[in-house]
Amino acid sequence: MAWGVCQAWVACWAESMRCRIVQTLLECVEGDITAQEVDAIVNAANESLLGGGGVDGAIHRAAGPELLEETRRLGGCRTGDAKLTRGYRLPARYVIHAVGPVYRPDDPDVPRLLASAYRRCLEIAQQQAFASIAFPAISTGVYGYPQAEACEIALHTTLEFLDQSTSLRLIRFVLFGAPAYSVYVQTIQRMAQTDSRLHVLD
Ligand code: APR
Repeated sequence: MAWGVCQAWVACWAESMRCRIVQTLLECVEGDITAQEVDAIVNAANESLLGGGGVDGAIHRAAGPELLEETRRLGGCRTGDAKLTRGYRLPARYVIHAVGPVYRPDDPDVPRLLASAYRRCLEIAQQQAFASIAFPAISTGVYGYPQAEACEIALHTTLEFLDQSTSLRLIRFVLFGAPAYSVYVQTIQRMAQTDSRLHVLD
């Protein structure tokens, strides 16, 4: 199928939601990003890349001290950008540290910066020829981004990225807790009603 034809099918299973986009499976699951056995997990980091709470804290705790030793040498990361490190003690081989924006409802740059953070992670995964990547809901915790708005940006950015050929065969969105998971499922199903590239399979 021509890559330009981006057909996504959404199949809803009890424990996860899956979208098939040509040869890439988009999956929504409820779970812990640190437990994901994929080529790379994405960290919701801050510009210092020196750790923090939430996802950042969980990833650094699970990866061990070598992760901080590596991020210290990266010289930080701008909001909207992302940088790669090894995964050390994590099941994932690599960590892509993405810096999302702090949510400010009246700042038109904020949606663009969140989209950029997702896109940079996908670009790095493509450059590394990764087959699988797992995202948390970037900026929706401490940085205050409303889940549904952030989900739409994540999905639109991913769909746009998949218009080109890619090594990625699995893109997984990992939501922490049932409420966040159900917001993602409802948002994807709502988007599927207006976006012809998304088909919900019962
Ligand atoms: N697995 C998956 N998702 C998680 C986990 C986890 N182990 N822990 C938290 N989350 C979820 C949160 O519930 C939220 O929905 O990840 C989302 C992002 O929340 P944060 O980790 O607070 O990230 P963010 O909102 O991007 O804020 C980044 O917080 O931890 C600091 O150093 C970090 O300064 C940076 C800021």
